[in-house]
Amino acid sequence: MKILITGGKGMLGRTLVRHLSAHDVLPVDIEDFDLRDPRQTRDAIADARPDAVIHCAAMTAVDRCETETDSAFSVNALGSAHVAIAAHAAGARLLAFSTDYVFSGGGSRPYHEWDPPGPRTVYGQSKLAGEEAIRAHCPDHLILRIAWLYGGGGPSFVHTMLRLGPQDGDPLRVVNDQHGNPTSTDAVAAHVRRLLEVPAVGTMHLTCEGETTWYDFTLAIFAAKGFDRGVNACETSEYPRPAPRPANSRLENRALRLLGLPPMPTWQDALSTFLADQPDG
Ligand SMILES: NC(=O)c1ccc[n+]([C@@H]2O[C@H](COP(=O)([O-])OP(=O)(O)OC[C@H]3O[C@@H](n4cnc5c(N)ncnc54)[C@H](OP(=O)(O)O)[C@@H]3O)[C@@H](O)[C@H]2O)c1
Repeated sequence: MKILITGGKGMLGRTLVRHLSAHDVLPVDIEDFDLRDPRQTRDAIADARPDAVIHCAAMTAVDRCETETDSAFSVNALGSAHVAIAAHAAGARLLAFSTDYVFSGGGSRPYHEWDPPGPRTVYGQSKLAGEEAIRAHCPDHLILRIAWLYGGGGPSFVHTMLRLGPQDGDPLRVVNDQHGNPTSTDAVAAHVRRLLEVPAVGTMHLTCEGETTWYDFTLAIFAAKGFDRGVNACETSEYPRPAPRPANSRLENRALRLLGLPPMPTWQDALSTFLADQPDG
């Protein structure tokens, strides 16, 4: 299969390139074409003649999106529309990544694929607009919502903790009132490889199984690495950010289960696989 990957130099794109090496993979990034430009996007995808497009490119700096609203919507909303139109015109299936930020982050249970969205950030609003454009312009699509992502090379929360953990200093303060599913790019890419063989369409949540908080996630990273720096739990309200962080980021992988596909690994298994591959691990 010929597969074009947008955002091929990003954290997830790089992992996908590695996992899909049995296919004819064409990673592209902003220096190949800028997906904010509809003509460049259409021509580049038409020339590549892919069987599938995996759309990872995005403006992912959640706080920066709050002030650079035009950029967020240009890339995440319009850019996704351009990719969807181009993929459909080229007769390619489109797999595109989205986020838990399309939900409001309230509630007391994990969100499933049929829950109504209600983004509270510019990032979430622009990603939801991108989802809607994909649904409108490319019928053969699979929108994959992921969250709390980390992967080779970072940047990610895990990379920050691997840097801070071995340093001397006061105990770290880590929020303990945000709940989510830490998810490795390796776990996502392994499932994408399977999903390429399944003619599924629509929206699918694809996070690692099990839930935790950033504080408990930090404790797990430190225990696995043998770091003895202290960690204290704190609350989100102590660290106001330009983009409010959801208290409830948990996603239920309901569509994956209803399709009878294998479950994602637990976050604990995915974390130990990832840490075993780190240079100092
Ligand atoms: N990271 C997370 O925690 C997380 C969580 C949930 C969902 N997601 C979603 O997962 C996907 C992949 O995320 P990621 O962490 O791998 O992102 P990433 O590392 O930020 O990579 C995104 C890539 O897209 C490129 N890009 C940005 N604007 C572009 C444009 N106008 N034209 C072409 N390429 C452009 C970026 O290039 P530059 O670096 O040059 O800007 C970068 O290489 C995204 O859709 C994201 O919304 C991520």
